[in-house]
Parts: sequence; structure tokens; C-alpha cells
Amino acid sequence: MMQLGYAEEDFRDRPVIGILSTWSELNTCHSHFPERVKDVKRGVLQAGGFGVEMPALSVDESFTKPTSMLYRNMLAMETEEMIRSHPLDGVVLMGGCDKTTPGLVMGAISAGVPMIYLPAGPMLRGNYAGKVLGSGSDAWKYWDERRAGNFSDEDWLGVQGGIARSAGTCMTMGTAATMMSIADAMGLTLPGASSIPAVDANHQRMAAACGRRIVEMVWDDLTPGKIVTPQACRNAAIVAMATGCSTNAVVHLIAMARRAGVAMTLDDLDALGRVTPLIANVRPSGKDYLMEDFYYAGGLRALMKQLGDRLDLGVLTVSGQTLAETLDGAEVYNDDVIRPLSNPVYAEGSLAVLRGNLCPDGAVIKPAACDPKFYMHEGPALVFDSYPEMKKAVDDESLAITPDTVMVLRNAGPLGGPGMPEWGMLPIPKALIKQGYRDMLRISDARMSGTSYGACVLHVAPESYVGGPLALLQTGDMIRLDLPNRRLDMLVDDAELARRKAAWVAPEPRFERGWGWMFSRHVTQADQGCDFDFLQTGFGKSAAEPDIF
Ligand code: FES
Repeated sequence: MMQLGYAEEDFRDRPVIGILSTWSELNTCHSHFPERVKDVKRGVLQAGGFGVEMPALSVDESFTKPTSMLYRNMLAMETEEMIRSHPLDGVVLMGGCDKTTPGLVMGAISAGVPMIYLPAGPMLRGNYAGKVLGSGSDAWKYWDERRAGNFSDEDWLGVQGGIARSAGTCMTMGTAATMMSIADAMGLTLPGASSIPAVDANHQRMAAACGRRIVEMVWDDLTPGKIVTPQACRNAAIVAMATGCSTNAVVHLIAMARRAGVAMTLDDLDALGRVTPLIANVRPSGKDYLMEDFYYAGGLRALMKQLGDRLDLGVLTVSGQTLAETLDGAEVYNDDVIRPLSNPVYAEGSLAVLRGNLCPDGAVIKPAACDPKFYMHEGPALVFDSYPEMKKAVDDESLAITPDTVMVLRNAGPLGGPGMPEWGMLPIPKALIKQGYRDMLRISDARMSGTSYGACVLHVAPESYVGGPLALLQTGDMIRLDLPNRRLDMLVDDAELARRKAAWVAPEPRFERGWGWMFSRHVTQADQGCDFDFLQTGFGKSAAEPDIF
């Protein structure tokens, strides 16, 4: 420390606070983190602590190949071991871009020292040619128009220039905003921190407050085990449903809860989805608004206030207050953005969990983001074994397809992808786009971006790559979706399925060394949260703490 120019007075008898920053120049959503680290350090110093910045894997959503999900668990392992292997008394976790929230939180829960989550915050609204643009959602929308020949190169460049115009995460209720809101609702951020736009001066003040608060948490020994309780996880799930969360929330929420020893399941989430009204009118589930509007309307505290005693208000948060105390004084300033329970965007339906002979361990759909005409649907399957095969077909204007066809992509799950890429919003075939269709039923064992929309059944488990029933489906088989009864079936008799199963051949292992090798041996299926089996709480004894001599 003296090599860095610090004197003993700087650190002696002070809590040492690790500031884990997932900054990188390839993570455009976190470009403000170097400045925020200074704000956190300012707060730590004010409260009598000693702050040290520690870079952690950035897991950027935009550039990570083949998908950032392949590396969420790497960030979780890195976070846990960085904390364990250094003399840290507490940590501030800085993340926001999709997988960084669950990765950081999972690792820190397992490490067990006091921690506070500092969400990157959403970027400002997009804007082009007088139109408000939403991250991802409008990219998909205008990309389809471009494929239909309705959108010029110049307009496309204009959209690119206007859709991401400040630091911060995607500003629709995509995976980033969903996961930051979940961390907030779990009690892991300062109250309402998840809604503050990244470039708002309030974000800087919040960062400094995180620095001050973590020092107090260390003296109070307020560890994550006291905050991430079954009640807090349930609160987080209810808030996720009320915000119209990304489907990715399912995988991450299960993984985060299980790190804290809370056995959350798909069925728990489906049950909450059925009874929780969607009250955040934020795209893509909501119609009109973006995260910046959500903040001005009162933000997550106001939404949680609306939910009232649907939440367990007695839980403790990192602020040291109960949830009830943190919501005191929260108000809705625009009840079209944050709706009252009596006037929801949807009475239910942020997420629904399906089961049937295509997905015995579950699959997920976002009813609020798809055309209701698909809630009950029967149609013939058109099956693709790989993304390139599917992509070639959807660009073929002579493709034999009808609006009833069910497009299926397999080998895109946790092992098949690998890493369960966000391919689940399969592009609508040009042959249908030209006829004016913009939605159709699609099924895959992939995930989809939280900014995506449409009648997409995702996370089919077990995945096809390990021989799940999706591997047995053939083009032309009839598929039935019965959303009210939460069923997804292929109308193929059991004897025929048994014959196909006997003929199925497992693919050769893809990785012979490295991270992929480790990932492919230990990742769990989507319904289990895709954590590594050996990292889950309850796997053997707790990790040994290093001896210090
Ligand atoms: Fe980082 Fe969307 S690309 S949050």
C-alpha cells in the first residue's frame, strides 16, 4: 500500500472495502464506472473506510462471443474468489449490463462478506427523427422493416446513432433493468437505486452513499445471508412480475436465490406470475414508456409502494432499514407509467411456465409481450438444428410456410448453444413479413433478449442437446400450445417418441480443454438456473477459507 503512496493512517484500523468494477472499453453500458469508482471512494473515505478498486470480468452483452451467458458463472466464481482471497471487510459491486448483476451477486452471496450492489442505471431514452427509440426492441422492429425493404440505409444509420446516446444500460425493461430492479427488490441496493439514469447527478450521489453505507454495514456485520432470505427472494420475484420482467429473470433469479440456500423453482415463479398484475408500463411488455420515464414517475420505490402488502415489508435491506421503512414517502408521479393495481397494463402474465411432452422440466413464455391469438395455438413444426440453417431459411422468400407454422430451433440450450444464446426470438421468415405478418409461434431451448417480444417459447428443458424431447421433434409434427392450462405438447404418440428416442445419438463432446470443458461438465439446465453444480449452496461443505500466517 505504501508503494501506492498511501500512509499507514490511510488504512490502519479502517474497514477495507473492495470496489468490484465490471468496467471495460467493450462494455459500453459501464463507460461511466471510472467516474463512479471515485464517487464510491469518496463515500468510503468519509465514513472512515479504505476503498480499493478491483476490476472484475466485464461480461459485456454487446460483444461477448457466443453469448455473455457462457461467462456469467465465470464472473460469479471470480467475484467469490476475489473476495475470499483478499483482505476485504466489505464490497461494493458495480454492474448492470445483463449478466453482471447475477454474476456479481451470486459470487458475493457465496463469499458472505457485507456487500452492497451499485447498479449502473439505464441510459437516456433513444431518439431519432422525432421518434423515441427503445434499446433492442426498436432495433428488432426496424431490422424487420429493413428486411421487408421498408427502411433505407440512411434511416438505419440514424437509428444506430440515436438509439444509444449516453452511458448506461439498455433503457427498456430488458434483462439489465430487470436484474437491477430484482437486486433492488431483494434489498441489495440502496432503496430505489436501480431506477436512477446512469448520467443523472443523483447517480453520482447514490454511488457516494454506497461508499458510506458499506463501511457502516461492515461495523454492523450486515452480511448478505441476513438480507437474501426466502421472503426477500419472493419479493424480488413479485416485483419482477409487476415490472414485466425479461424472461432471463427466471434463470438468474433461481440461481441467485439458490446461492442463498433458497430453493426457488419455476413453479413458484409461475404461481406468482398468475396473481401479480403488470403495472410498469415500460416497453417491451408495456406500451409506451422507457426507464427514464419510470424514474421520473417515481421509480421502483413507487412501484413497490403500489404493491403494498403483496410484499413482505418486514425484510431487512442493505440500508439497515426494513423494506417498509425504505418505502416510506414513496409516491407515484405519473399513474400512466406506474399504474395502480386497479388499472394494470395486464392483470397477469409477465411470465408463464409451460409443461408438456415437449418440455417436461419446463419452458417459459412472456404472454404480455405476444399477440393473444397465440395463447391457444396448433400448427405444424418447422424444425431447424442450427442457427445458420434457420437463418438461411428465413431469408428464402420461397420458403413453404404459413402463419400457423411453429418455427423451432434446437441445439441452442445451455450445452447446445453453448451458453444458451439469445436466439429465441427467431426472425420472422421474409415470406411472411412480405405478407404483413410480424409475429408467429416460435419454440427453442435458447433464451431471448429481455428487449425482445413475440410469441416465443424459450428455455425448453431438458434441452435437445442432451436428448430432451425437443430432440425428437420432426418437421411436420403438430404442436399444441395451451397457455391457459400451461401446456406445450407435440401431438406424437408415445410409441413413436420411444422409437425416435432409441434412434437418437448424443453429439460428440465439443470442448477438450479450457472454460468450455469446465462449463460443459458442470452447467445445470435452465430450470435449475444454469449455475454450476459444484457452486450451488448445499454442494458439499462450504468453501475453505484461506489460512493467514
Ligand atoms: Fe448492456 Fe443491454 S447491452 S444492458
